[in-house]
Amino acid sequence: MIFAKRLILWYLENKRDLPWRATKDPYQIWLSEIILQQTRVEQGKPYYFKFLNAFPDIFSLANASEEEVLKLWQGLGYYSRARNLLFTAKYIAFELGGEFPQTHKELIKLKGVGDYTASAIASVCFDEAQAAVDGNVFRVLARIYGIETPTNSSAGIKEFRNLAQNLISRDDPANFNQALIEFGSEQCKPRNPLCSTCTFASECVAFNQNRISQLPVKLKKLKVQKRHFNYLVFLSEKGETVLEQRRGKGIWEGLYQFPLVETTAEASVENLVQEEEFQNYSLETIDGLSLYNDTPIVHKLTHQHIFTKFWIYSCRELPQKGISFEEANKFPVPVLIENFIDTFDF
Ligand code: ADE
Repeated sequence: MIFAKRLILWYLENKRDLPWRATKDPYQIWLSEIILQQTRVEQGKPYYFKFLNAFPDIFSLANASEEEVLKLWQGLGYYSRARNLLFTAKYIAFELGGEFPQTHKELIKLKGVGDYTASAIASVCFDEAQAAVDGNVFRVLARIYGIETPTNSSAGIKEFRNLAQNLISRDDPANFNQALIEFGSEQCKPRNPLCSTCTFASECVAFNQNRISQLPVKLKKLKVQKRHFNYLVFLSEKGETVLEQRRGKGIWEGLYQFPLVETTAEASVENLVQEEEFQNYSLETIDGLSLYNDTPIVHKLTHQHIFTKFWIYSCRELPQKGISFEEANKFPVPVLIENFIDTFDF
């Protein structure tokens, strides 16, 4: 039996009942795929429901403020994805009259939509035979076909895309793409794949040559950068604090945080008070500075680990306009800050 047919048969028998599988509405499929680029299915579901509930269609999303969107996105990370989501919603609502583009060629021009997402929307919503190749698909194809080209090299990306494009069902590209992703996620898992019940076991190169743990091949990642963040949690006599918006490119652009002093190594109080950025706040303190967490809290992002200390800085007057602590919860903030706000007893 040809690959596509066998794969789709497996899918029809084994697929999970996921909310975005009950629709072909491109708005909902686009939203689900943008969320799923960022997180796993189980963590993604509540975000999908929250977004659909707040913004049931492209027009309601297009009319949202950036802060509302960032707030709903909070916790998913890569906040540029949320900003692109809003930018693209505005473009489709106001420039295209709310009509979603219907072909891979047009979809890929949208901000935040790459080859994978364009293929997913084009196939699921408009039955265009474009292979949607994500990490799951790399793994399945590398194992079954014994491909050793690194999946994160440009040669690898091309090779896997071409192979998937040759294999895709022209009659049912929607189910083919979803089946391949589902198969990678549920059967051909990264660790402990279910080879004993696999429909492809007899021809799977990795299984037959005992190379499951070696495939797919991935080039080594860049070194992780270590950063040291010192957040100044001002506490005024009036019971207010200060949140600032992060400016410039880089992580958490546009989100809010306590005023930050970044140091090149873990800072003691003596180190901190010598920093120029710290000295910009020459305030009359009440109890001086106290460290909230003796051991830095480590927040891990893809290419950087952020070692964080929260310094409580009680003062008569704030260095700038303050907000009450109840208000702090309403701002879109990185999870690191959210966890602090939730646990610190103001
Ligand atoms: N991962 C990425 N897209 C997905 C989808 N549509 N269903 C399940 N998992 C996915």
